[in-house]
Amino acid sequence: MTRITGPRTIRTSALVGAVLLALSACGGGGEATDDGSAAAGGGAPADGELISVGFSQVGAESGWRAANTQSIQDTLTEENGFELSFSDAQQRQENQIQAIRSYIAQDVDVIAFSPVVETGWDAVLEEAAAAEIPVVLTDRAVDTPNEDLYVSFIGSDFVEEGERAGAWVSENLGTEPINVVELQGTTGSAPANDRKEGFESAIADNPNVTITASQTGNFTRAEGRTVMEGFLQSEGAENIDVLFAHNDDMGLGAIEAIEAAGLVPGEDIQIVTIDAVRDGMQALADGKINFIVECNPLLGPDLADIITSVVAGEEVEKRIVVEDQEFDQEAAVEALPDRQY
Ligand code: AHR
Repeated sequence: MTRITGPRTIRTSALVGAVLLALSACGGGGEATDDGSAAAGGGAPADGELISVGFSQVGAESGWRAANTQSIQDTLTEENGFELSFSDAQQRQENQIQAIRSYIAQDVDVIAFSPVVETGWDAVLEEAAAAEIPVVLTDRAVDTPNEDLYVSFIGSDFVEEGERAGAWVSENLGTEPINVVELQGTTGSAPANDRKEGFESAIADNPNVTITASQTGNFTRAEGRTVMEGFLQSEGAENIDVLFAHNDDMGLGAIEAIEAAGLVPGEDIQIVTIDAVRDGMQALADGKINFIVECNPLLGPDLADIITSVVAGEEVEKRIVVEDQEFDQEAAVEALPDRQY
């Protein structure tokens, strides 16, 4: 496993330069090697030809997603040697499956996608493998018994993000009994599953910290606001000490609900979120959010490196972890002027 720090720092494993022209028996999804890296098969384009890439994006649900899309579209350009077919699945798995099938029909060189949910991908990934088209996962994982169905997965460690959020709550606020309400991401998605798991494990040993309500806000600002309005009704504002939101956008929607209820976000209810997009960082600098764990969305350049290696038949790391920072108010004020997203 390779761990990378910040944007544009990945190097795809030791590039041994072994060009593997033979595909694995199951097709071009890549061959596992002894050290866990993957060697990709598939017909490389001739010299000077563009590498055709089909990319199925989750949707446009958040500021994070907008920055991620921009990074991919700005990098996989003709000028850089790529022909990109991009589709937005509007947070629906069936749309992503349809898009992947259309990329298979187009016989693109590489398919990349960020899976909206973790399960239910085996059939379409087997179709890609049968067509000898390598698949790269970006941002989110799939849950599959056959990891040979994709050649590489680049993205953050979501469990660790949740752990860092939970550790901050436990250490800074959990010195006395506190009630936490949780806004989960999209049900069944890797970041929702993993951030919840990480947060719960970090607070497990602190009997002062209790999650009293937890519901999905689907990673959107609008649903974050609606669900927070519900929490304020069902729990009573006086019984909510902390909000843990799985992303900035839901936290920002919740801030609207908290202010509409006549409360002061960041004071009456402390708020911890994940992403560190510009709007979230501004709210942190303004004292409306108290702590943010970063999830870096600038995956385009590293994805381009992986794809280039894959079509050259070079080895790529099976798992590339993006390292994320964390911010309190002071750090946000310092970082904001140079923030890229
Ligand atoms: O998969 C990454 C998550 O998806 C981001 O944290 C969230 O904002 C986005 O919708």
